[in-house]
Amino acid sequence: MKEKILIATTAQLQGISYLRIAVELNRRQTSAIVFSWKGKYRAYINHCMHMQRPLDCQEDTVFDKDGKLLRCSMHGFVFDPESGECLSPVCSDQRLQSLKLQETDGNIYCLEKRLKLISTDGEQ
Ligand code: FES
Repeated sequence: MKEKILIATTAQLQGISYLRIAVELNRRQTSAIVFSWKGKYRAYINHCMHMQRPLDCQEDTVFDKDGKLLRCSMHGFVFDPESGECLSPVCSDQRLQSLKLQETDGNIYCLEKRLKLISTDGEQ
């Protein structure tokens, strides 16, 4: 059986655009974003591949003004919320690191073996 870690509840995600959680992945502390998108829950490591910054490093959001794309607030690179694929030309062959999720009875679990939840540190 796969190890699973409770990272959020569906109730927590109602009425917010995303939840930022502090995590440890492969023994490195970082953060992840969790959100609901087209009826499914998505999570990505909050790490823009352009200059290694969190997507919300300059503003308290990870979405563009229309709420249709993920957007890094540092230089404006945009990403497909469904796949994490970068849609900006400079990093067009790269994508955000996604985290496998499972939703059961209102609980959202992460199925990544090397991930530890440190804390829930931001609702936006
Ligand atoms: S650091 Fe994200 S767009 Fe530059």
